[in-house]
Amino acid sequence: MASQNLQSVPPELSPDEREREQAGQAYFDRIISEDSRIEPRDWMPEAYRKTLLRQISQHAHSEIIGMQPEANWITRAPSLKRKAILMAKVQDEAGHGLYLYSAAETLGQSRDKMMDDLIAGKARYSSIFNYPAISWADMGAIGWLVDGAAICNQVPLCRASYGPYGRAMVRICKEESFHQRQGFEILLELSNGTEAQKQMAQDAVNRWYAPALMMFGPPDDDSPNSKQSMAWNIKRFSNDELRSRFVGMMVEQVKVLGLTLPDDQVRFNEETKKWEHGPLDWNEFKDVLAGRGPCNAQRLERRREAHDDGAWVREAAAEYARKQAEKEYAA
Ligand code: 3HC
Repeated sequence: MASQNLQSVPPELSPDEREREQAGQAYFDRIISEDSRIEPRDWMPEAYRKTLLRQISQHAHSEIIGMQPEANWITRAPSLKRKAILMAKVQDEAGHGLYLYSAAETLGQSRDKMMDDLIAGKARYSSIFNYPAISWADMGAIGWLVDGAAICNQVPLCRASYGPYGRAMVRICKEESFHQRQGFEILLELSNGTEAQKQMAQDAVNRWYAPALMMFGPPDDDSPNSKQSMAWNIKRFSNDELRSRFVGMMVEQVKVLGLTLPDDQVRFNEETKKWEHGPLDWNEFKDVLAGRGPCNAQRLERRREAHDDGAWVREAAAEYARKQAEKEYAA
């Protein structure tokens, strides 16, 4: 493996630089083949750094954009307890964004640049957050299905080969588990309530099911990044593999909820030993990624407003840091 990769060392380097690059590549190949971890100061191929930066920054953006559909419901939560839980969850998402931006910064990209790209509409974030949350039951469906899909996708990322990403994911996944449970509990309560409440819960599950399955990304034969990301031990499973596992988890849980999945083609394939689901509308997915989802414009507009409203906080923090540095220098 190492000797094959050494051929990618650029020929225009000086002999010293060439030797350093070769040693770096050999070290990197060994760490990956031992399923160990690359740390920020280690040598890494430029393509590995770029892939990580792409995935981690998109993930960070998803966390903070994902605060919006639920934050809209904080003032309308049906009880003080629900309000407190929802506020805590939305704050957790902000925290996840911060861990992930910090992990991305270790790859040499400034947080300002990442934020500028998001605000300018140049960066991706998860398709799921471009759908509207129109009823209280959507808070349940988001917790159960969206956070459930997030856990299924992200638990394997705790073993990602890049240290800061894997470590951030450990804490994020613990919190996501709580998020999923609170969503499940909202749906369970509604499902055991009046007929109208049960209908509201079913309607929310019907609307969020397919978008949640699409969170795992395009089908494997249409996923340009998966193969290399898996070879580098960033992703551990393919998009379709994780989607299938998720369907298997939901099939059992929906029975406890007393609800149904809006998919009569869900079945366990005894030959492949995998869960299968009905067709998904990949044209809709592409439209959402191209900025034409139901809420894309609104989500970005709200993000821009929040960024502008927070300018004074950033300025105050920068000024405080400057004064502290001045004091330390004078001492
Ligand atoms: N939404 C938006 N874009 C998506 C997407 C989705 N659901 N799924 C795939 N894409 C994009 C990819 O980013 C890639 O675009 P790019 O090349 O321009 O960056 C393109 O579609 C092709 O997809 P690939 O399968 O080749 O891309 P990846 O190998 O990166 O796999 C992924 C996509 C599975 C989403 C992977 O990046 C991943 O596991 N990311 C980390 C987890 C993450 O970001 N989750 C987002 C949700 S966060 C969240 O759920 C918050 C929680 O609080 C609920």
